[in-house]
Amino acid sequence: MSVAHDAATLLHSEVHQELRVQVDAADQNPHFTHAVARVGEKNEVIAQQDIYAENGMKLLAKGARVNRSTHLRLIAHRLELPLDVVLCAADSVDEVSMVRDMERIISADPILRNITMRSGDPQGYKSILGTLHLPAPLLFRLTVMRDDRNDLYLHSLRTAVIAHSLGVRIGLSQGTLQDLFLASICHDFGEMHTDRTILSKGRAIQGSERRFIHVHPITSYAILSKIQNMAPGVLQGVLQHHERLDGSGYPSALTEERICTEARIIAVAETVETIARRARKRQIRIAIRLNTGRLDSRYLSVADELLQTKEDIDSTSDHNIDVAGKLARLTMVLGAWPALQEKIKHHKQSIALDFIGKRVRSIQSLAMQAGLSADLLECLDLTGDDATVLPELNVALVEMDRVIDELIFEVERRTSHLPDCGPIVEDIRKTFETPSVSLPSVEHTGKM
Ligand SMILES: [Fe+2]
Ligand SMILES: [Fe+2]
Repeated sequence: MSVAHDAATLLHSEVHQELRVQVDAADQNPHFTHAVARVGEKNEVIAQQDIYAENGMKLLAKGARVNRSTHLRLIAHRLELPLDVVLCAADSVDEVSMVRDMERIISADPILRNITMRSGDPQGYKSILGTLHLPAPLLFRLTVMRDDRNDLYLHSLRTAVIAHSLGVRIGLSQGTLQDLFLASICHDFGEMHTDRTILSKGRAIQGSERRFIHVHPITSYAILSKIQNMAPGVLQGVLQHHERLDGSGYPSALTEERICTEARIIAVAETVETIARRARKRQIRIAIRLNTGRLDSRYLSVADELLQTKEDIDSTSDHNIDVAGKLARLTMVLGAWPALQEKIKHHKQSIALDFIGKRVRSIQSLAMQAGLSADLLECLDLTGDDATVLPELNVALVEMDRVIDELIFEVERRTSHLPDCGPIVEDIRKTFETPSVSLPSVEHTGKM
């Protein structure tokens, strides 16, 4: 058996092990319980039945409110039944409130309006929502998300609307559209089981904290797998939404046809959603082109088609352009690569580390496609005529930044179980991470 095959087998067994841990832990998580308590301070969260610990001790009586003081009892014990089964909120998310929220989101965003209008069924998301009959525990989770992590809630709804538009345009069956829509709404449930300070805006993620990011699709899967009759398309769509066709994704580094339709579409929808919040339509199309090879080209070209319109939509464009900083990072990574490549070539785990070369080559070719080079800045007049190309350059550089960040994630993931990799991983991290360039933050940025 080859070293690469060994590494892949180990990776899959790690994912299965993590899946078991997360399924066991899905019912009760301190970060989620804290979030419930915060929500309970402003929106009545009530025990809809007596709540018992696993050892039979009564913790809260039916009708009691959960808030900052009472929730400590829930954290201190292992519960007999999961929180989302025994609790309800007075002002709960339901299908009607979600339709209202989606209408508001679409009407406020010219890019989303454009995408839904061109899909062929602009109101279709409403009828799909009406057919889902969302179970109470799922609505409770969505309520906690809406009230405690509103950025994540809006990201989920926007992703669902875009994914649905793509699905309609492609001509998916009603059943697959339903699975896709539900998976899109729930894909980041696992984030609520993560310490939210790790994800706060503008904060760079430390090495050990990346594990929480890698785990969130597994946690989302674990949460949904506890809900009866959840369709396999929903579960797999959620579990695989960070997988990438070239094998650079997580948690299982799946490639090509091993990634299900729902997950491929969510990946494209998330990319459009993340960029749509900070860029113009034209810039989204550049970013779409830069993701070819990692995301499904069929769905990317449908997204590109849906974005076409005669007028140039000027959405909230990102004016905080740090072209010089981002270009410096890219230049440093590509400049340091030949020396690193030599080290990898002579390393004991050279076969297992081979994927790094592939990823760097794809970064090089993406940089070439985008016309990025070290001497570019010297050639550009940043205050004169050339200033108009900066937004486009910025989009390309933000994408490069993201690809480099993801490569660091991938290196850590794929080497954590391999012997003798500590020093070389440290070398890679030092070269690829630049303190002056912070990781894109989740507000919600697509970091997850
Ligand atoms: Fe997401
Ligand atoms: Fe995610």
